[in-house]
Amino acid sequence: MSDLSTIRSAALGAVEQAADLAALDAARIAALGKKGSVTGLMKTLGAMTPEQRRAFGAEVNQLKGEIETALEARKSALSAAALAAKLSNEKIDVSLPARPEFATWTEGTLHPIGQVMDELAAIFGEMGFSWADGPDIEDDWHNFTALNIPPDHPARQMQDTFYLPKRADGTPMVLRTHTSPVQARTMLDKGVQKMLADSGSLRIIVPGRTFRIDNDATHTPMFHQVEGLVIDRTTHMGHLKGCLVEFCRAFFEVDDLPLRFRPSYFPFTEPSAEVDIGCSWKGGELKIGAGDSWLEILGSGMVHPNVIANCGLDPAVYQGFAFGMGIDRIAMLKYGIPDLRSFFDADLRWLRHYGFQALEWPSLTGGLGR
Ligand code: PHE
Repeated sequence: MSDLSTIRSAALGAVEQAADLAALDAARIAALGKKGSVTGLMKTLGAMTPEQRRAFGAEVNQLKGEIETALEARKSALSAAALAAKLSNEKIDVSLPARPEFATWTEGTLHPIGQVMDELAAIFGEMGFSWADGPDIEDDWHNFTALNIPPDHPARQMQDTFYLPKRADGTPMVLRTHTSPVQARTMLDKGVQKMLADSGSLRIIVPGRTFRIDNDATHTPMFHQVEGLVIDRTTHMGHLKGCLVEFCRAFFEVDDLPLRFRPSYFPFTEPSAEVDIGCSWKGGELKIGAGDSWLEILGSGMVHPNVIANCGLDPAVYQGFAFGMGIDRIAMLKYGIPDLRSFFDADLRWLRHYGFQALEWPSLTGGLGR
């Protein structure tokens, strides 16, 4: 009997004190293994009378059960502790910057156009604009007619259009010549119209591909534009100026960058203005900022009432401004890239030279909202 209680306390004690899964297994073998203490007790049964055997056998079996239960409990406690330790050892701070020696992005770079689009999103995002998209293959109505350029209007000749085969229903199709058709698509959107009716204000930028028949050092048949559109009940020309001045200063990172608003003509805006930024060519090198020269960078104006009406809004209620800018052009100016055609050559040496590191988030909005 005393044997039994000694063995019980030794076996249960060993289980309880096992510090890891290996020690726990040793405790199991010491009690229940072939040469274990409890197994040893079983072996003494053969020499007993049937009554003794029944009584003692039951006690040994109960002890065996107790030890097995204790083993299970200890095992799950140890595994839970092991998992917790592993998790806390392997904790990763996902906010840490990537380690350059492991980062595959040192192998590749972001194209300047993607970089500039990120910069546009950062700056205009800060001013409350959201990003909108439209199709590259556009119907004639959205590309021209909705924008106050009816079929026989001479302004159609302002843009050298790629015409596509008509759609099966006879709709004339084009590769969009500008991002302006997305103005129409957005104003026509029922959700946008409801938001405006509820006195909301529409502010979008539309970065995307555009197409014109043109090819030289500063023109490629496919290029990129960003459209901007603001519509509500009160936005006026002063807002247009303020918005574009803030944008250009943030984008070119020149706090006192001079801007010139020159009267111009677009069928879809009235009045219209082209915007130039100040620069100098001292020593043959272009420097953006105060100087004695000007560079044209965008077209803009107050959205023409005809356009607002074509898009299902009441021009007596709604007004706003729009602008359009060549993304490739402002990328060339900001980053000193001389030839536009090189943007689309996919030349690795060019990409390594002019490309940007991934994970480098543009932070150009520091000056906004001063
Ligand atoms: N769509 C015009 C262009 O491609 C630019 C523009 C957009 C002008 C919006 C005024 C308003 O030249």
